[in-house]
Amino acid sequence: MRRPLIVGNWKMNKTASEAAAFIRDLRERVSASPHADVVIAPPFTAIETAYRTLGPSSWINLGAQDVHWEEQGAFTGEVSAPMLRELGCRYVVVGHSERRTHFGERDENIQKKVRAALKHGLSPILCVGESLAEREANRTESVVTDQLKVSLAGLAAQDLATVTIAYEPVWAIGTGRAATTEQAVTVHRSIRLFIETGWDSQTASAIRILYGGSVTPQNIEPLLVSDAIDGALVGGACLNPDSFATIINLAQVQRA
Ligand code: 13P
Repeated sequence: MRRPLIVGNWKMNKTASEAAAFIRDLRERVSASPHADVVIAPPFTAIETAYRTLGPSSWINLGAQDVHWEEQGAFTGEVSAPMLRELGCRYVVVGHSERRTHFGERDENIQKKVRAALKHGLSPILCVGESLAEREANRTESVVTDQLKVSLAGLAAQDLATVTIAYEPVWAIGTGRAATTEQAVTVHRSIRLFIETGWDSQTASAIRILYGGSVTPQNIEPLLVSDAIDGALVGGACLNPDSFATIINLAQVQRA
């Protein structure tokens, strides 16, 4: 069985000192469990402090919110995979819809980021999802499949073993309007089918597919009722130690 993964994407929130305080508080409220993996993804400026506060062998894993595809060079403002690795990151969010919308990120570049992450031992959390207009035009499946096709092109099955896919419908992000379990499950199944068709059934049944978009302590349980949903990518509700701890604890109990 796939172990659920709960990821907190802090987005552009918390200074380094706020990150340290948050982690100390969170650790009081949650404990390690074999029933769920946990990742926090602070902004770049708080990663080193987060790593020091967590300690090198913490069960709470560290992720970044983005990565550049080159290892070094004249790319002002960018951060590379080796830089993130050295600060203890094990995961990186790639292709978040906010990067697509506000920074013009395209699937071709997302593919390069996925490859760079894998090359340097970071597990990519690849975000895909449709806009409201695309959903209303019945294009959800084709939009998500097209994003996956380009972003994962040419990867071997063994590469996919460390990739996580996050289905984040754009209309559900930050709106308080989460997808229903049924809506999420439908898309998750089509993603798994896409992986099975493009690679093989073993790879498809091993890959974790998370749901993201207005996840809260109130709606995490119905989402995790389905074994098609392998966890959550949480935005707003991960910023408060109490609500993030509740989500983690519920995930641990539900899949125990
Ligand atoms: P919200 O949980 O705030 O809707 O954000 C979801 C998200 O974008 C996580 O990456």
